[in-house]
Amino acid sequence: MTGDSAEHGAQSYSGVQVAISEAESARDDAMNHPCLVAGTASQALAEEVARRSGIPLLDRRIERFPDGELYVRLSDSVRGRDAFIVQSTCAPVNDNLFELLLLLDTLRRASAGRITAIIPYYGYARQDRKSAGREPITAKLVANLVATAGADRVLSVDLHSPAIQGFFEIGMDHTSAIPLLTEYLRSRLPRESVLVSPDTGGVKRVDTYARMLDLPIAILHKRRANAREVEIAAVVGDVRGKVPVIVDDIIATGGTIRRAVDTLVAAGARPDVWVVATHGVLAGDVIANLSHPQIREIVVTDTIPISPTLRAGLPRLQVVSVADLLASAIHRLHNGLSLSALFPQGGAQPI
Ligand code: R5P
Repeated sequence: MTGDSAEHGAQSYSGVQVAISEAESARDDAMNHPCLVAGTASQALAEEVARRSGIPLLDRRIERFPDGELYVRLSDSVRGRDAFIVQSTCAPVNDNLFELLLLLDTLRRASAGRITAIIPYYGYARQDRKSAGREPITAKLVANLVATAGADRVLSVDLHSPAIQGFFEIGMDHTSAIPLLTEYLRSRLPRESVLVSPDTGGVKRVDTYARMLDLPIAILHKRRANAREVEIAAVVGDVRGKVPVIVDDIIATGGTIRRAVDTLVAAGARPDVWVVATHGVLAGDVIANLSHPQIREIVVTDTIPISPTLRAGLPRLQVVSVADLLASAIHRLHNGLSLSALFPQGGAQPI
């Protein structure tokens, strides 16, 4: 007797003896183990999480029909298992978001026990309220879509606004890469550094960095000059003679950073600027903007993959991995342990 039909033993369900095969017994064991699925946007990060957590990636097919529709299939059974998907909704945002929804639907219809969507970079987050009439609130729409598609929980890293956590009716864990980023900076920044928020919306974030690095802060006040341009109207805090460290959550085109560098240097800061942000969206004219001669180093995480072209175009870019953070989060969620240790300040909510 071999394979699936091999009788391996018997288990008792409600007093009824049920013969189970060797393969079924192995599957029974597997149900106690979490499973991990990589979305295409986060393939490299998911591989790293798999390596560090010891949870192998599930074999899956993601293909495109000639008309552009997506096809998804898992090769193995996930029935009853604690399933984790890793997929950032970065560019191409709509494709990656829809692929995440299809993966969730696939796991739900394949009867996974619990499904957690790990969305290291939560795209569409910047539209988190209506700033004018007749606009959507995309951060809420995405939360609805993810829950409807089948997620029981969501875990993300440094949301653009912490309030987005409340957009979910399902469990939502908001972790932060700030402890990793401050750890990287701690031994590298000179003592006479000042942490700078490029806008007033980032004050809490820069304050979290300041408490962890024990450094002073300054804030730039941004004002809209016209429909396309913003200008920096004021520098609040002492930057004269100091090494500025600009702290943001996202670097997209790098326009905010370029303007902030010019303003800080004009205000007397040293022309030796550091830039740190969790998410390197890195779009549009980012290479030109971040090739500013007064920028020494740009530090981001790998919540979003960085193409070889961007790597080559931005030699001063350093990438800190969130793979350990995500592997720890999976271990803690699977084993019903608290996630507080993953937040800055040992339990306080990030930013
Ligand atoms: C804005 O609220 C964000 O925190 C970032 O400052 C902004 O998204 C960066 O965009 P960009 O790099 O295109 O200036």
